[in-house]
Amino acid sequence: MSRMTVNDRPVEFDLDPRMPLLYALREAMNLTGTKACGGMGGDGGDCGGACMVLVDGVALRSCAITLAEAEGRIITTIEGLSADRAHPVQQAMVAQQAIQCGFCTPGMVISAAALLLRNPAPTRDDIAAGIPNICRCGVYPRLIKAVEQASRVARRQERISAAPAPGISAEDAAKAVPALRVPAPE
Ligand code: FES
Ligand code: FES
Repeated sequence: MSRMTVNDRPVEFDLDPRMPLLYALREAMNLTGTKACGGMGGDGGDCGGACMVLVDGVALRSCAITLAEAEGRIITTIEGLSADRAHPVQQAMVAQQAIQCGFCTPGMVISAAALLLRNPAPTRDDIAAGIPNICRCGVYPRLIKAVEQASRVARRQERISAAPAPGISAEDAAKAVPALRVPAPE
């Protein structure tokens, strides 16, 4: 049995303690916001970092940590970072349009949140060095702007409106997205 706290809830995994934390989160807890960038199996930490989670406030690749190593730790996944997507990094990622393929985004947000925890006012070089996630579409310039903005928001130097709350209805989304139509029920 592996015991830990995931998104503020104490949990016990009755799984092989050698199993990567990534699988337990995705398959046993259905926390699929944490991605497996090496395919379902990960690469043991050598791929893009889409599997990042906070472990005691530090961003780590969940494919490279076993359940045994996570024993007693406090784990935060993208689902637990903020109940209403109001974390400054989440707001700034939306404001700077730094979300592209979407697959890499959760891991980038986790890395950025961890960076701001240890360095509330990072320079551009700090951001480039502090976010190891790999992205093939080249979102890095916007990502850097987003983290700079998130830093200002977290330090109350700037305010931006929050990203839409989860659970937005298709009808509400259609009001803001001209390309989306939701036919009325027959
Ligand atoms: S699954 Fe790609 S770095 Fe973990
Ligand atoms: S955000 Fe996924 S490849 Fe760039």
